[in-house]
Amino acid sequence: MCGIIGYIGDRDASTILVQGLKRLEYRGYDSAGVATFTEGTIPVRRCLGKLENLERLLRDDPIEGKVGIGHTRWATHGRPSEENAHPHRAGKVVVIHNGIIENYLELRAHLGKLGRKFTSETDTEVISHLIEEAVLSGRDIVAATREAIAQLEGSFSIVVMHQDDPETLVAAKSATPIVIGLGEGENFIASDIPAILDHTRRVLFLEDGEMAVVRRDGVTLTTFAGEPVSREPRVVSWDPVTAQKGGYRHFLLKEIHEQPQAIIDTMRGRLLQEEGDVSLDELAGCEWATNAKRITFVACGTAWHACQVGKYFVEQIARIPSDVDYGSEFRYRDPVIEDGTVVVVVSQSGETADTLAAIEAARERGAKVIAICNVVDSSIARRADAVIYTHAGPEISVASTKAFTTQLTVLYLLGLFLARRRGVVDAEAAAPLIADLVNLPSHVEECLRRERAIEKIAKKYGDARGFLYLGRGINYPIALEGALKLKEISYIHAEGYAAGEMKHGPIALITEQVPVVVLLPKDAVYGKSLSNMKEVESRGGRIIAVTDSPSAELEDIAWEIIQVPTTNPCLLPVLLTIPMQLLAYYIAVYRGTDVDQPRNLAKSVTVE
Ligand code: AGP
Repeated sequence: MCGIIGYIGDRDASTILVQGLKRLEYRGYDSAGVATFTEGTIPVRRCLGKLENLERLLRDDPIEGKVGIGHTRWATHGRPSEENAHPHRAGKVVVIHNGIIENYLELRAHLGKLGRKFTSETDTEVISHLIEEAVLSGRDIVAATREAIAQLEGSFSIVVMHQDDPETLVAAKSATPIVIGLGEGENFIASDIPAILDHTRRVLFLEDGEMAVVRRDGVTLTTFAGEPVSREPRVVSWDPVTAQKGGYRHFLLKEIHEQPQAIIDTMRGRLLQEEGDVSLDELAGCEWATNAKRITFVACGTAWHACQVGKYFVEQIARIPSDVDYGSEFRYRDPVIEDGTVVVVVSQSGETADTLAAIEAARERGAKVIAICNVVDSSIARRADAVIYTHAGPEISVASTKAFTTQLTVLYLLGLFLARRRGVVDAEAAAPLIADLVNLPSHVEECLRRERAIEKIAKKYGDARGFLYLGRGINYPIALEGALKLKEISYIHAEGYAAGEMKHGPIALITEQVPVVVLLPKDAVYGKSLSNMKEVESRGGRIIAVTDSPSAELEDIAWEIIQVPTTNPCLLPVLLTIPMQLLAYYIAVYRGTDVDQPRNLAKSVTVE
């Protein structure tokens, strides 16, 4: 997620802007820039990399002014570069933006026909041209912004400056946050509270569909349509660090709760509900993907669990033979890659050494490679033949959560995309699954509402010496992921197992001291999993059942039941993941471990 800051007052704007952007560094970014009003113009300073590069640039080539905007970019469209960094200019209009404009290519083509030239690959630059077109038609900056945003589809929070109106900043909000800071003779705009806490604690939050006209002596709120909005300022009590966590105790919990929005952002522009289809522009022209004879998924850790779900789904829906391997295994086992094999690598960071090496091993043997990454222009993204980005935003906590569920989302989209193009599934058959995908974020929200109940369960079982996690079929990888989450943040040993395998050994572990988490959706193998639970219960095991269908029979056997909503069986892995994440989180909190930076772990394993 990008960082946004705006300032209008009587102090040096560029100092306040850079200071505010520093408070937003935790959000992750790859480039930065500022613009200020000075002597009738709006000079812009932008650079690739960290804010210290921008500070160096401003020392060498300073910009004066008491009004300005600043931005840290987390690339979603267009690689990290100075040209793609914000602010973006079109004539006398300068804009910064956080979000994803779904129809930017269409708008760009329309503006191109009007003779407009573009200097970047971004969706944001399109906004600046739309606003300038309206200004040139005689609108003032407020009306021009209103006219432009009416043409936008997608998510956007923007702040706009116009050279001929140095006393006005215009902000508009749709889907990504905007907060207005109220000072004495000065006012602020930001994408997040930490950016302005050094100056004021009185804030106004914009809601979706609202605009703010911000001047040094006051702020006017309206809807996009121009209707007045009245809202009482709130006083923020958070300290800056708490504010960076959005009020959550840890980044991990914040990111668990960000998953509905992250899934929405990842599906944005890719679901064609009316056509019962999926749009993956990233695979346009990649016949080799559509005609794949086999798909080999390669990843590490949590991303490997996502691949295990992907394998089940792609084989089920697209009927393409699939297999999964660890990057660290694939790279050294001299794999046999037959003609028509496509290797799909999954990596949140895009920098995992074993996964990157696996790409080389695959390409040396003639395979084409698709990468699923969360970091634009990362090493893995650059080495692949095609990249499909998740749009989870920066994941700060070492344990992966929203990156995982957005990886699952992309894998569902990929499976559907291939199934539709191979004619294995027609629009009618795909429609219900697509409808279930549309409902997935609200189903995840419902899972998150179990948080308090799961916290209680965590306290009851937090002293256990070890856990066993059981799942079957497409949910077996979620048992693995649940066990990994617990291990890596609470330091309790935990093992994920295919439920049908329990009697082949792990059953020897069952005692009252080893709670057993059983993933038990009402699917085709429900009865088999219930039998597994009875085997556990008859040996004194304490069962924590996670299901979409509680029953009296289940209540007789399970010590705890966590319910998730019912959905398409192949989407249940996403819903079952949420209780796994919350259980691991609250057990870790109960045991007092370093939840966001667990011992021995790194966010990106860039070494073997
Ligand atoms: C996830 O909770 C772990 N921190 C770790 O297993 C991680 O998934 C693995 O290192 C792969 O990282 P990547 O997705 O960045 O490639």
